[in-house]
Amino acid sequence: MSGGCPFMRKTSLLNFNRLTLGDTEGEDSSQDGVNKASKGGLIYGDYLQLDKVLDAQELQSEKKGNKIHDEHLFIVTHQAYELWFKQILWELDSVREIFQKGHMRDERNMLKVVTRMHRISIILKLLVEQFTVLETMTPLDFFDFREYLTPASGFQSLQFRLLENKIGVPENLRVPYNRRHYRDNFKGKENEMLLHSEEEQTLLQLVEAWLERTPGLEEQGFNFWGKLQVNIFKGIAEGFHAALGKPESEEKEELMEELKKQKEVFTSLFDEKRHEHLLSKGDRRLSYNALKGALMIYFYREEPRFQVPFQLLTSLMDIDILMTKWRYNHVCMVHRMIGSKAGTGGSSGYHYLRSTVSDRYKVFVDLFNLSTFLVPRHWVPKLNPSIHKFLFTAECSDSSYFSSEDSD
Ligand code: HEM
Repeated sequence: MSGGCPFMRKTSLLNFNRLTLGDTEGEDSSQDGVNKASKGGLIYGDYLQLDKVLDAQELQSEKKGNKIHDEHLFIVTHQAYELWFKQILWELDSVREIFQKGHMRDERNMLKVVTRMHRISIILKLLVEQFTVLETMTPLDFFDFREYLTPASGFQSLQFRLLENKIGVPENLRVPYNRRHYRDNFKGKENEMLLHSEEEQTLLQLVEAWLERTPGLEEQGFNFWGKLQVNIFKGIAEGFHAALGKPESEEKEELMEELKKQKEVFTSLFDEKRHEHLLSKGDRRLSYNALKGALMIYFYREEPRFQVPFQLLTSLMDIDILMTKWRYNHVCMVHRMIGSKAGTGGSSGYHYLRSTVSDRYKVFVDLFNLSTFLVPRHWVPKLNPSIHKFLFTAECSDSSYFSSEDSD
């Protein structure tokens, strides 16, 4: 026999069958090994400090002499959420640190950032689904122990608030809760941590600064924005010209209407003052230059230099979407469990939570809106052919890779 698996050449087929069937008379090595734990040293339970983790499920119902079976699930579910929030914060802080220290200029760090952001979105997917486990508890079973929890509430989850703040949910866009500042629910060190998280640079601000440096935006160099503006208005003007040449018809009217709308959309895109106005209202969140950078990454996403940045923008939107789905699944579960009763934390419950499932809490809302500004490929300014050299440069301040003569 030539080729094939070397193991099969040395072992007869008969023996192989014996092994796989677990015949102890054969050469079964599955029980081989050394029990290292018996020799001392770190063991599983100690390493994970399971004594603390597994000893932390104290049923209030049991303490009150009325043990309710499902309270155990309720506690474990919340603890699992908090552990995953901790992991998300761990990843998020590391990503923010890479941005803060200016390490994003090294392309290898870019990959690290994207990988970690992707990890966060995978965890969030799990958390969105995790409510289904708790939903195996019936509202009546919950009712049996709910009174023992008051006034404890998820509203007091420090890690959840830190997460929102560090991503970039702004204080002024939060839905008011009992006309109180959300931070008033936290005392001492927790309150300080929240204050600190509001003051430090958010992921949104760090991404914004990075987008502002997108190579190709320089007016003296490739001047992406200037070229794009020329191409778009030329394209729209050509559209009007072609439409006007058509015989009068409903179709012509619709086309003209469509072109007018398109012109309005793009006039607003290139109007920096309007952008500032939308920023002040909270309808846009990124600076004007960052928006330009993001659009550039969108248009040139197939260029190797922009592939990883494009993945990052995609991950940021994934996180926004998953946070919204988390809020949505949570509020649906709350509605099912307590109807429109007030929450144990004192809010209106379902109604308060429902109002948080909104764009106010979407941090990267501008990235979603970029799709409004997508244009036909031939309107996108052409890059210089020497872009291939540019692929291999980690630092990309050299705008000569983008030719200023290459306008469409
Ligand atoms: C039976 C299950 C649950 C019910 C009935 C419930 C109910 C509520 C209610 C009514 C609120 C509004 C604040 C209040 O007045 O108390 C709230 C907020 C919250 N809950 Fe839950 N919850 C449940 C499970 C969970 C789980 C498993 C988590 C996971 C950590 C969680 C995390 C939160 C968070 C973070 C908030 C604050 C949300 C915000 O203000 O945007 N909840 N919950």
